[in-house]
Amino acid sequence: MSKKGFIFDLDGVIVDTAKYHFLAWKNLANSIGVDFTEMQNEQLKGVSRADSLNKILAWGNKNISEDVFKALMNRKNDDYLNYIEKMDASEILVDVPRVLDFLNDQAQPIALGSASKNARIILQKVKLLKKFNAIVDGNDVNKAKPDPEVFLIGAQLLNIKPAFCIVFEDSVAGVQAANSAQMISIGIGDKEILNEADYVFKDFSEITNDFLKELLK
Ligand code: BG6
Ligand code: MG
Repeated sequence: MSKKGFIFDLDGVIVDTAKYHFLAWKNLANSIGVDFTEMQNEQLKGVSRADSLNKILAWGNKNISEDVFKALMNRKNDDYLNYIEKMDASEILVDVPRVLDFLNDQAQPIALGSASKNARIILQKVKLLKKFNAIVDGNDVNKAKPDPEVFLIGAQLLNIKPAFCIVFEDSVAGVQAANSAQMISIGIGDKEILNEADYVFKDFSEITNDFLKELLK
């Protein structure tokens, strides 16, 4: 059995924080008079905080100063941090621990590849930090997804060539990032939305240990 690098996105893959990002962006957008729908939210998944705010401002035709931009980013994050304050292991998505434990048992290296600057806090809250051999988050990259930087750094830290890495992603931007890194992309979510991924599963309960073993060949 060969060694592969397994790279997991965080929000919407390991934990169901996507709903809290949505609520915090919706509160912020509405507070500045911009409508915000779940369809639009889909385009913000995997996208950095600054890029997300830029998109919302563009949808609402708003021009603001740099200072106001910073204040809005902080307001969104404070709101988001309030939502996640009481998070615990019960918010880990279905069968994620089984997959992480299976890969650990097979001595496969595992990295986190997230756009979020809150990734470490969240992994600590849900007590999964120790399951990862490397963590790459929004504090470690210069270019946001769909740029492949976050996953390429992950591969480097795991010491595995990109072509031998497998990425789990719930966002279009993240699937595109994995594809441009020449990694295998596994979409978690809707087949229609994630149609650029190599494989798509509704959630980890559909990913069997046999399927994971196939990836190790
Ligand atoms: C991604 C989320 O993982 O992280 C996005 O899918 C979010 O919705 C981005 O905007 C940045 O997160 P944070 O926690 O640094 O604002
Ligand atoms: Mg995500």
